[in-house]
Amino acid sequence: MTFFTLGVETSCDETGAAVLAGERHIASSVIASQLEVHRPFGGVVPELASRRHLENMQPVLQQALEEAGISWPDLGAVAVTRGPGLKGALLVGLCTAKAIALALGIPLVGVNHLEGHIYSNFLAHQQAAYPLLVLIVSGGHTELIWVREPLDYRLVGQTRDDAAGEAFDKVARVLNLGFPGGPALEAAAFRGDSESVSFPRARFKRGQDLDFSFSGLKTAVINHVQDLAARDQEVPVHDIAASFQESLVGALVDTAMQAAVRLGAGQVALCGGVAANQRLRGLLWQEGAQRGLEVLLPPLELCMDNAAMIAAAGWQRLARGESHDLGLGAIPDLELATRSL
Ligand code: KG4
Ligand code: ZN
Repeated sequence: MTFFTLGVETSCDETGAAVLAGERHIASSVIASQLEVHRPFGGVVPELASRRHLENMQPVLQQALEEAGISWPDLGAVAVTRGPGLKGALLVGLCTAKAIALALGIPLVGVNHLEGHIYSNFLAHQQAAYPLLVLIVSGGHTELIWVREPLDYRLVGQTRDDAAGEAFDKVARVLNLGFPGGPALEAAAFRGDSESVSFPRARFKRGQDLDFSFSGLKTAVINHVQDLAARDQEVPVHDIAASFQESLVGALVDTAMQAAVRLGAGQVALCGGVAANQRLRGLLWQEGAQRGLEVLLPPLELCMDNAAMIAAAGWQRLARGESHDLGLGAIPDLELATRSL
């Protein structure tokens, strides 16, 4: 008999519910986006996000069950994001998942949002195998993680300041490209010359050189735009966007390649919201191929926040005998890897 895991995701501004059949088959994955709610504010407003999750949750759950062709009693377990994320938003998902687990008498398991992103690669690629080097690039995180075996995450490198998505969003704002910044900046960059401006790249001494830093790059873009404005010169938005993107993506890919070589990795997987970026996907693929590495890229619907990846990570925890009681709490700054290599 098929084991169905319900996934629930509400860490930021997408309300997600999904049904996973067994370890890897996505029976349904429903996402209600809140983009239009937050767009007038130019960023996610936490209180509005929580309220909208409450409104969206019931219809999203119903749709997930309908599309999977199952009803409530068919569920075997419920997996939910417990962090990192916005506290109020996380609590909506947690309360929902607890109520379902209690009503149906099924196990509840809390999942780290970032491990969800990692498991999007196992959903998408049958050949994904351990140990796996993963580059997580999202709005709040930029980390290289060595997944030695299921649920064993070792931190290889991380950002010292801004996350990649955060840098995209901030630079998009400076260039008046609108919200959400990442996709808008990528669209502008398509029409620009990536060699028009040479922006700096952070360098670290050996021993720390698998880390990232993007705040210097962001500041360089801001200074460049202000200099042009002060001299009454036109701001070539597309060229600046392309040059910024090239510099950031180049740093991500170079560091991931160095890490892969040092660790002797055979596969490198990408995940998180910024993994939707075509230039990043293309360059990682190209550089990986040159070194004989297999590069795993999740499809775009699994790059954005979704509940299928949460159910997949939850399944791994349940399969190892883990579950949580109804005291499970939201942890806004939950870390993924507590140990380095
Ligand atoms: O994983 P995610 O959906 O949410 C978090 O867990 O943070 O990532 C959202 C981030 C945002 O910063 C967004 O601007 C960025 O991913 N992003 C992109 C693209 N699509 C989304 N950044 C660059 N290029 C894109 N195409
Ligand atoms: Zn995410």
